Amino acid sequence: MTKKLWGGRFSKDLHPEAMEFTSSLNVDEKLAEYDVIGSIAHAKMLAKCKIISNKDKDSLVKALNTILNSIKRGAFKPSSNSEDIHTAIYEALQKKAGKAADKLHTARSRNDQVSLDVRLYLKDEIKALIALLASAQKSLLNFSKKNVNVAVPGYTHMKHAQVIILAHWALAYIEMLQRDKERLHDGLKRIDVLPLGACAFCGTSLPIDRKHVAKLLGFLNVSENSIDSVSDRDFVIEVISALAILAMHLSRFAEDAIFYGSDESGFLDVDEAFCTGSSIMPHKKNLDTLELIRARSATIYGNLMASLTMMKALPTSYNRDMQLDKEMLIGSVEMVKKSLSLAAKLISGIKVNREKIAKQLEDEFLYATDLAEALIEKGFSQSEAHQTIGKLVTYCVDKQKKISGLDNDELKKFSLDEGIKKLLDPLTSADAKSSFGATSRKNVKRQIIVWERKLKDA
Ligand code: ARG
Repeated sequence: MTKKLWGGRFSKDLHPEAMEFTSSLNVDEKLAEYDVIGSIAHAKMLAKCKIISNKDKDSLVKALNTILNSIKRGAFKPSSNSEDIHTAIYEALQKKAGKAADKLHTARSRNDQVSLDVRLYLKDEIKALIALLASAQKSLLNFSKKNVNVAVPGYTHMKHAQVIILAHWALAYIEMLQRDKERLHDGLKRIDVLPLGACAFCGTSLPIDRKHVAKLLGFLNVSENSIDSVSDRDFVIEVISALAILAMHLSRFAEDAIFYGSDESGFLDVDEAFCTGSSIMPHKKNLDTLELIRARSATIYGNLMASLTMMKALPTSYNRDMQLDKEMLIGSVEMVKKSLSLAAKLISGIKVNREKIAKQLEDEFLYATDLAEALIEKGFSQSEAHQTIGKLVTYCVDKQKKISGLDNDELKKFSLDEGIKKLLDPLTSADAKSSFGATSRKNVKRQIIVWERKLKDA
């Protein structure tokens, strides 16, 4: 019979199918490094509190460091019939540290150990995610700097609305990604709490020093309720939720870029390195990378729903159900990291097609609101101005005329004169929007300076 961490009362091995079904090794391998780091701190604390001898502690720390190095080198191969990464490392330790290995799990359970590992993992991964968000923001900022003087039609409801500066659109995504950073960073407050020492769920009779472990591992706080410590997966759900919002932002960016890159719009041209062709239509250059960034958000939302549903109505303290949180969390982290990294690279290679933009800007109804605002400045109420320009639009549609093609008599019917024709210009239109946060080039340049400063050390 194979020796298990919990094998004492068992006279049979786990059925191979049950073994495979209950194992989490394929996902929690990602926690290997953190598991060892946590064990080193635990061993040191046990010796400090005289629960194990210094000699045992020394052999444990030495063997754990060897395992840590092999994990870092990618050379650690957990035995495939280990139940999870904690067990796999324990088994490797038994080979290296002999009898001392049997003492490491004193005053510890995998229930508090797994929460510790995930918290350590997240402290690193959140840093990595924030760095990737910053690099995507920098790509967007570079794109903005190159496109301060490019006016494009802006859309609401996917219909031509008013002229905007292209950089203003990219800057909007910088704002979204900043809030994503803040959300992830804020979650750290709740992650930075040491659960180790809660043991199975109610602590231990042995004289452990949890504060010492927290100090060794760099945790700001120590959890105050041992039942909550092993029960809590709020912090996992919170991160997945922040990732779902982030993925939603990336998905919307992808959709915008797909639309701007479509044959109907064509403002933007995505570098071939991020496109694929068709097996039957020789001319195709499809935006598959963006489409898959757009689609990946679905998996993250699914993980959020799955993690909430898994925890719903789960009895207090540890239940094995919670093992599945790793698939949801680690899967989401990995996927969002890939999407972010690709988005940053793809944005850097985007080219702007000025001819296609000019074609779209031929639609003079993009200036309808400017004309209404000109009437408001002349004393019209908003409603009168809206009605008047609405009629002008109908007139132009009926007569198949452009506003710029109307003569003074025609314009007069709508309380306008030739003077308004100077408003029918993209940059003039954008620059007129000078209210705080609006799309004028002056505002956009100011926003670029602000973001250059904010992202300098990011
Ligand atoms: N692998 C489990 C998890 O990821 C930890 C093991 C706890 N197992 C147990 N029987 N208490 O949640």
